[in-house]
Amino acid sequence: MRIRKNAVITAVGGYVPDTVLSNHDLEEMVDTNSEWIVARTGIKERRIVNDPDIATSDMATYALKRLMEEGNVNPDEIDCVIVSTSTPDYVMVSTGSMVCEKAGLKNAWGIDTNAACSGFLYALTLGASMIESGRCKKVVVIGADKNSAIVNYTDRNTCILFGDGAGAVLLEQTEEPVGLMDSFFRTDGSGKENLIVTAGGSKFPASQSTLDEKLHYVRQDGRVVFKAAIQGMTDTCNEVLKSNDLVSAQIDYLIPHQANLRIIQSVGEYLGLSAEQVKVNIDRYGNTTAATIPLCLWDFKDDFKYGDKMILTAFGAGFSWGATYLKWGTLRQSKKD
Ligand code: COA
Repeated sequence: MRIRKNAVITAVGGYVPDTVLSNHDLEEMVDTNSEWIVARTGIKERRIVNDPDIATSDMATYALKRLMEEGNVNPDEIDCVIVSTSTPDYVMVSTGSMVCEKAGLKNAWGIDTNAACSGFLYALTLGASMIESGRCKKVVVIGADKNSAIVNYTDRNTCILFGDGAGAVLLEQTEEPVGLMDSFFRTDGSGKENLIVTAGGSKFPASQSTLDEKLHYVRQDGRVVFKAAIQGMTDTCNEVLKSNDLVSAQIDYLIPHQANLRIIQSVGEYLGLSAEQVKVNIDRYGNTTAATIPLCLWDFKDDFKYGDKMILTAFGAGFSWGATYLKWGTLRQSKKD
């Protein structure tokens, strides 16, 4: 009998910059107020990079180094690094390649995936497939974004929402009944009308007019995104529950993309979960795009126990959205423990 080999998360690392951008700081920059931001989004502060030498790959590397230290992971044993980001260091040269170099991984290859806020979940499924197939033994999946590089700090519709950060997980093979069980993903390209960074790619290469028109910044129709996010996350959570013969009462935790506290609460309520089951750190970090879910796993890892059933769900530009069902395993111990 073939024993199914699952991919399980065995180590986690996270990083956010030291510099805090509070709601009160934003009051000095745009016409807004802290009460409005907290009431409409749940965000109290976010972290941003204020050193021009720090790029997305640096934040990703800090998260990976923490993962290796706390998980006692030998860098030479890592086969592959997948970085999910929509703010890569360069258009050409993958952030994954930069991370492998900066973290001193001699035997790994690194690539990027981009599905904006859903990117980490997509990359997690790709990484898990490589472990399940036996092609790789240790795959690192990172979600990292330096959103401060694409946010217009004179646009109150967007600048209040985003922060910078990175989170990393290590996937390894297990024969135990834990790990990534299933995913249900969708995309809809027509969503680009409502959430996009228009210029800098091949469609609108950088030019004087793209600069003049501020097309290198993130632009969105918040109301459209808000509704689509609640619907998309709830629907895909239900799909993944159904295809695994589960009902939400059997779920221990929901780890949602952190875009807006009201979105998170609505999805939790539609699924019938209690507030304690729904993990939230948006108040401290804002929306860190691909980093929100791994940063949540990093922040709350001590709450999780072997066998806990979790649904991870995200919605983002593309539109892209989906849900992943996983059972928590055992994290590797650091040398200190
Ligand atoms: N401070 C104060 N007022 C603001 C404001 C701000 N930062 N931003 C918008 N407003 C105003 C609007 O101009 C509007 O005023 P009006 O009624 O006079 O026109 C009013 O507040 C309500 O705006 P609205 O857009 O309806 O607010 P909202 O409750 O939808 O909240 C978002 C706006 C952006 C917070 C919300 O739509 C959202 O979070 N959407 C999802 C965005 C997202 O997650 N994007 C990332 C990808 S996952």
